Amino acid sequence: MKWNPVVLIALLAPSDVFALLRFPCAQLVVDRLDPLVSPGQEPSPHLHQIVGGSSFNTTMDPAKDMPKESSCTTCQFSEDFSNYWTAVLYFKARNGTYKRVPQRQNAGFDGVKGGMTVYYMQDGLYNFQQTSKVTAFQPGFRMFVGDLNARTEEEASRFRQLTYTCLQNIGTRDPQITYFPKEPCPAGIMVALRFPTCWDGKNLDSPDHMEHISYPESGTFESGGPCPASHPVRMPQVFYEVVWETAQFNNKDDWPEDGSQPFVWSFGDGTGYANHGDYLFGWQGDALQRAMDAPCYVNCTTLKTQDIPAMNACAVKRKVTEDIDGWVNELPGGHQVK
Ligand SMILES: *[C@@H]1O[C@H](CO)[C@@H](O)[C@H](O)[C@H]1NC(C)=O
Ligand SMILES: *[C@@H]1O[C@H](CO)[C@@H](O)[C@H](O)[C@H]1NC(C)=O
Ligand SMILES: *[C@@H]1O[C@H](CO)[C@@H](O)[C@H](O)[C@H]1NC(C)=O
Repeated sequence: MKWNPVVLIALLAPSDVFALLRFPCAQLVVDRLDPLVSPGQEPSPHLHQIVGGSSFNTTMDPAKDMPKESSCTTCQFSEDFSNYWTAVLYFKARNGTYKRVPQRQNAGFDGVKGGMTVYYMQDGLYNFQQTSKVTAFQPGFRMFVGDLNARTEEEASRFRQLTYTCLQNIGTRDPQITYFPKEPCPAGIMVALRFPTCWDGKNLDSPDHMEHISYPESGTFESGGPCPASHPVRMPQVFYEVVWETAQFNNKDDWPEDGSQPFVWSFGDGTGYANHGDYLFGWQGDALQRAMDAPCYVNCTTLKTQDIPAMNACAVKRKVTEDIDGWVNELPGGHQVK
């Protein structure tokens, strides 16, 4: 069954308590920083696009209070000062030069500047019940999902919930594949990242930023399943959708002569298998838990919201000086495509 809000409403009895937040976050900044994987490095190895609270910085001490350190957030729910980020998509033209691919919002969020759509759910995308009791993240919690070194389907098989959809129109959702689409996509490429939903209950982070979290013991991201004994705490399903506006690069005369696809991640992955994302929890007080315990569907009256001009007005200055807008001869940081 396809993702369809109308179907979801129809399947739920009025008494069911269910929570599904779905909201836009405008672009906070595009910069070569990564306070999770490369704290203190300015520049970090590769370029990212970041949304959320304005306390985003080169180094982010987990003991610091993100809501307090932020003066604004780019997210619609104005108590959400979390930071969400991914790598940046580039087009590599036949002549060897690169251009950053712009982003747009999902349909319905027109006017929001770039960024991504964020979801918090009680259950996976295809479980229309949304009934699992979930425990919101603790202050200082952070996580990463994906494998920067994956270049084959086998290497990426652990992460089959990190996907691409070739958008025929802005509403296309299937099929979802784990590599870059091989043909031009008329309405862009949607990247979907679903984080694991089970936590060890103890560690806010871990050396690889993943050991403290886990997938359910059985099932998939669509069907869920119980959490393993090692990671017994069921957390919300955090899910990003990023729409890359590739249409302006769809002229096949500019694509590689061998017919292969021309898009590459900012760290040099030309396959798409190394899709990954980063999350730093930063909701104010108990706002996220409150929302997860309330009957919220997309909107949520228990949460404060802000309008689109306020989301767009929140931004931080880039710290690393380099050309991220023009045609460039190499990817920022000099990554080779492989
Ligand atoms: C980022 O960190 C630097 C150095 O600690 C600090 O001076 C600056 O105020 C921070 N910026 C933000 C937006 O918090
Ligand atoms: C390379 O190709 C792109 C796409 O056709 C074009 O816009 C750009 O100007 C070219 N750059 C050079 C140096 O030829
Ligand atoms: C959420 O709220 C917005 C703004 O009030 C409204 O346009 C939209 O239809 C609502 N969505 C749902 C699914 O209730």
